[in-house]
Amino acid sequence: MKSIRKAVFPVAGMGTRFLPATKANPKEMLPIVDKPLIQYAAEEAVAAGIDTLIFINGRNKRSIEDHFDKAYELEAELEARNKSKLLKLAQEVIPSHVNCIYIRQSEALGLGHAVLCAEPAVGNEPFAVILADDLIINNGRNCMEQMVKVYNDYHGSVIGTQTVAREESDKYGMVAGPVISDGISLLEQIVEKPAAADAPSDQAVVGRYILTPGIFDKLKTTGRGAGGEIQLTDGIAALLQDEKVYAYSFEGKRYDCGSKLGYLQANVELGLAHPELKDDFCRYLKSLTLCD
Ligand code: UTP
Repeated sequence: MKSIRKAVFPVAGMGTRFLPATKANPKEMLPIVDKPLIQYAAEEAVAAGIDTLIFINGRNKRSIEDHFDKAYELEAELEARNKSKLLKLAQEVIPSHVNCIYIRQSEALGLGHAVLCAEPAVGNEPFAVILADDLIINNGRNCMEQMVKVYNDYHGSVIGTQTVAREESDKYGMVAGPVISDGISLLEQIVEKPAAADAPSDQAVVGRYILTPGIFDKLKTTGRGAGGEIQLTDGIAALLQDEKVYAYSFEGKRYDCGSKLGYLQANVELGLAHPELKDDFCRYLKSLTLCD
């Protein structure tokens, strides 16, 4: 069985919910406290044993490439000023054994299409997909580490899921299938953004996947689905006709940082947990006359 060495980061979405912040910058570069979302996602992948990061870029691509690249002038300046702690922060954005590959998605045709764009770099092996705007924080094993364990135990594609309120079904891919073990179900149904009345359960797909390479052939023939986009969910629905696919209800708190409210919640909660900031930030929040 091949191990999970590669992770795909689709970062070519339009990010319309965050305009104008996302006009010239991908939303995955929005910072939570002091790190962009994409760096949290890259760190999660690397901690899970992944050593090849494949970014599917859109037109606003430069800032993500620059973020993971060497910043010569900045590093020289920090060195000259003896700012060794800051220099370390700038240099250690990713460990040196990790490779980054950038692929252009020339048109934002949907998440399924973005994942298909990764095929030349992924080849014939299982791989992870991480949507960086779903920030998932867990004190023990991170979400992708948990998913890799499920993949290693069950040898099939794994979809990260979470319970949501039924009336939110039309924002998610919704799944259903029999529970086979604690937190793990055999996927039988997956539907993109159904109306609450049509949702097969209250289990929603969130931005973590481990997929076998069989997904690529399915995506090649997946037509446009919900919202006129080529949906990864529809590709997975086709894949589960041929292979076992598992849904995994991961441990951890998820912040939907593609929405303004989720983004603000993440900043407040991670600010309150930040070693340098937490005391001052907590005092500040207490000093506010909060809404009634
Ligand atoms: P979203 O559904 O959040 O869409 O994409 P979006 O365009 O980024 O944001 P809104 O809804 O307009 O505000 C889910 C993930 O898929 C990527 C996005 O970058 C995000 O990580 N994506 C989406 C692509 O890479 N390409 C696409 O064509 C669509």
